[in-house]
Amino acid sequence: MFQWMVCDHYEEMSRQAAQIVARQIQQKPDSVIGFATGSTPLGLYQELVRMYHNKEVSFERIQTFNLDEYVGLAKDHPQSYYRFMWDHLFGQVGIQESQIHFPSGIFQDAKQACEEYEIQLQRIGAIDLQILGIGANGHIGFNEPSDVFVMGTHIVQLTERTIEANARFFQDKSEVPRQAITMGIGNIMKARHILLLANDESKAEAVQSLFSGVVDPRVPASILQLHPNVSVLVTSEVAYLL
Ligand code: GLP
Repeated sequence: MFQWMVCDHYEEMSRQAAQIVARQIQQKPDSVIGFATGSTPLGLYQELVRMYHNKEVSFERIQTFNLDEYVGLAKDHPQSYYRFMWDHLFGQVGIQESQIHFPSGIFQDAKQACEEYEIQLQRIGAIDLQILGIGANGHIGFNEPSDVFVMGTHIVQLTERTIEANARFFQDKSEVPRQAITMGIGNIMKARHILLLANDESKAEAVQSLFSGVVDPRVPASILQLHPNVSVLVTSEVAYLL
């Protein structure tokens, strides 16, 4: 079941998204929130920081789970997703390290690293609200287009398109890690409520796949059509194909 909203601009989309996150936490202060990285949710995080300072929302009792991390980047690496979350949200709203769950980008044994995150995910049962961006190729988390949907936490080889899209965060494209560790499609689909955001024109086709009636692992986000509770917030630049 989709609820969707076309917002006039990015700020409006971010404000609406922040209202959904804040409402979730107000209704259930110990909510488990799944966070996403990338430029799309930055406005949402800024708005949450503003609401926190205005005492409209408290993050004291939430648990956080993140979708993914680059393989080979330690938590404190400037381009790691852990650092991204810390700089843009966690460190600004009083979230303690003990509340944070992240797949580890540094490991000896890939299988074990994935299993460790799976155990943490299983322990909490289900994420209450999962925030998602979307790649121009339809990826969610780092679940890249593939012949099959991978259910659990796994290591992925990033596609050339994703490496190019994410090169803007690095000094040079050659510095973008080639692999990532990501929650699988099954982990994402288990969330009770999914909030997907898209504001860039390059995402229009990927967002269209959410309404296509076709579920295809070559466009991973298309699986969300089978989820019972998804809120899609897009700007008009993205909505023109819908
Ligand atoms: C990245 C992340 C995704 C994110 C997507 C879009 O590679 N792994 O979680 O949703 O790509 O990023 P952006 O919001 O910067 O366009």
